[in-house]
Amino acid sequence: MFAVPREQVVRVHASSGTTGKPTVVGYTAQDIETWAHLMARSIRAAGGRPGDIVHVAYGYGLFTGGLGAHYGAERLGCTVVPMSGGQTQKQVQLICDFKPDIIMVTPSYLLAIAEEFVRQGLDPAASSMRVGILGAEPWTEAMRTQIESVMGLDAVDIYGLSEVMGPGVANECIETKDGPVVWEDHFFPEIIDPLTGAVQPDGEPGELVLTSLTKQALPIIRYRTRDLTRLLPPTARSMRRMAKIVGRSDDMLIVRGVNVFPTQIEELILQTPALAPHYVLELTREGPLDALAVHVEAADAAAFAAGTSAAAALIEQVKAMIGISVRVEVREPGSIERSIGKAKRVIDKRTPIAG
Ligand code: DLL
Repeated sequence: MFAVPREQVVRVHASSGTTGKPTVVGYTAQDIETWAHLMARSIRAAGGRPGDIVHVAYGYGLFTGGLGAHYGAERLGCTVVPMSGGQTQKQVQLICDFKPDIIMVTPSYLLAIAEEFVRQGLDPAASSMRVGILGAEPWTEAMRTQIESVMGLDAVDIYGLSEVMGPGVANECIETKDGPVVWEDHFFPEIIDPLTGAVQPDGEPGELVLTSLTKQALPIIRYRTRDLTRLLPPTARSMRRMAKIVGRSDDMLIVRGVNVFPTQIEELILQTPALAPHYVLELTREGPLDALAVHVEAADAAAFAAGTSAAAALIEQVKAMIGISVRVEVREPGSIERSIGKAKRVIDKRTPIAG
């Protein structure tokens, strides 16, 4: 699939393979240059400046998060701590020792790091970190508020995908925090109706389609990202923004005929004070109908003891706001598996209907 002889490809990465086998992507030396430049621009838009210390907790390796962040932070003139994902205790130790200004990590893993601070008797809000550059998975405004209050930093959204480059296709500006600015000098964005393919006017929801303008090894024309969002007018920069991603079209659950995204449930969980932002959704089939169970942690031991009232509150909210009936299981704090990268929010236990 490369548009240059293989000898000119200086690096390969791969997509996370959320929808099947990972896609291998390649970069020429110039592509790596462009990527570093756009990541430097992204980190600057997020509030980073030369001289800052940047702790990178995105995974290094085939995933584009770690190395993408790394090259960009170096290009901006920052000092990089290339920690990668995992070893949560050590993450906290390095943050305490090196006192980074910025952390680059998935929002779900940042919450796990925050918990580890607390476990060690430390206040995460008192850490040196002033900005989190968070992405690689959907996260809501409610999650932003939660992270900012727990960690005492500005949480800024970064978007990208391997097929189009990696992180740094779009990045939010710290001044406005109103959705990632698409770096339109390198990528041409369109929103289409996922069913008909018709291009939608700015402001209308639909699937993001991207065309690369400067890529060499793997130029892409009208690549369907499956990510659902809207294009918004420029604010802090002169280029258009995208709204926070609602989810991927393949993340959409259809429960008794109603379309639901995990992010919608996330918002309601975060509005329920007795619940913690750690959850997983389980889909099962009861006869011919799909059923959705929400497994969510109680905020603390007292909330766990009073579990049924929080469950009842969430069931009512989901019914009122989304229009479906769910089962809610309030679990003990710490009982839901933490991600060290992208969180897996949905467990599908439905057996396919024969025929
Ligand atoms: O996740 C690239 C990346 C790394 C982006 C680090 C940001 C930070 P893939 O593994 O190919 O690449 O997965 C791309 O992740 O199509 C979206 O569905 C999702 N995604 C990425 N950023 C965001 C975000 C990296 N800010 C897929 N909000 C994309 C919501 C995101 N979803």
